[in-house]
Amino acid sequence: MESSLLLRVYALILSNKLNTMSLTSSTIGRKVAMALSGLFLVVFLTQHFTINFISVFSEDTFNEISHFMGNNPIVQFLLQPILIFGVIFHFTMGFVLEIQNRKSRAVQYSVYKGNANAPWASRNMIWSGAVVLSFLGLHFYDFWFPEMNYKYVEVLPLDSERYFEEMTHKFQDLLRVILYVISFGFLALHLFHGFASSFQSVGFNNKYSPTIKKFTIAFSVVIPLGFIFIALFHHIKSL
Ligand code: HEM
Repeated sequence: MESSLLLRVYALILSNKLNTMSLTSSTIGRKVAMALSGLFLVVFLTQHFTINFISVFSEDTFNEISHFMGNNPIVQFLLQPILIFGVIFHFTMGFVLEIQNRKSRAVQYSVYKGNANAPWASRNMIWSGAVVLSFLGLHFYDFWFPEMNYKYVEVLPLDSERYFEEMTHKFQDLLRVILYVISFGFLALHLFHGFASSFQSVGFNNKYSPTIKKFTIAFSVVIPLGFIFIALFHHIKSL
């Protein structure tokens, strides 16, 4: 009798423990997935920045690379869908995690006043992310949809010289440049916390961590500033 009671208590503890474990591990799993997709987008951002920065120095090279990227089947039909999936996955997961955090914070709030002392960037990832997402809406409207339309809807003739012209044309509009610059500011805030913390989320914690942290901070300042420079450069040149 006594031993069967003990067994039942043990089974109960075990099942509770397993529940808690699966709950936390799924939250941790989501955080890791978020971090990995974020790191993947950072890789994309680096190559995207490099190609766009070339437009400042050489119209021909920019056209050549854009033409290659825009017509290479591996880029178009493998890498591009992976990228689009990565973007959608990252922001969907971001909203899911935010909702979960809010729910758990609502319970803990009477004892623990949130993370009021944490830096603005880390407390407002959802808002900086939302601005970057809205920027992507405008950015796709500017570049991606016209490009898809050109190639796959209207099926216009290949023209390897058109990319620089199309891009600089967009930056003639001051309002667009202002919206882009504001978005790049929010991108900096988003990267400032997100890039560094993604290493923690994937459990990267060793003697290289301080160096990685410095690198992520430098990245989150230099890349958005570089994007701002590109937008302003083409706008000023168009005046
Ligand atoms: C001055 C800054 C930027 C310029 C000039 C620029 C330019 C472009 C161009 C020309 C395309 C069309 C590529 C194509 O499909 O042929 C494009 C696509 C794209 N851009 Fe940007 N971009 C800038 C900043 C950014 C930033 C900051 C992000 C992310 C936060 C971003 C994310 C994307 C994405 C996700 C695509 C779709 C990629 C694809 O499927 O090819 N861009 N951009």
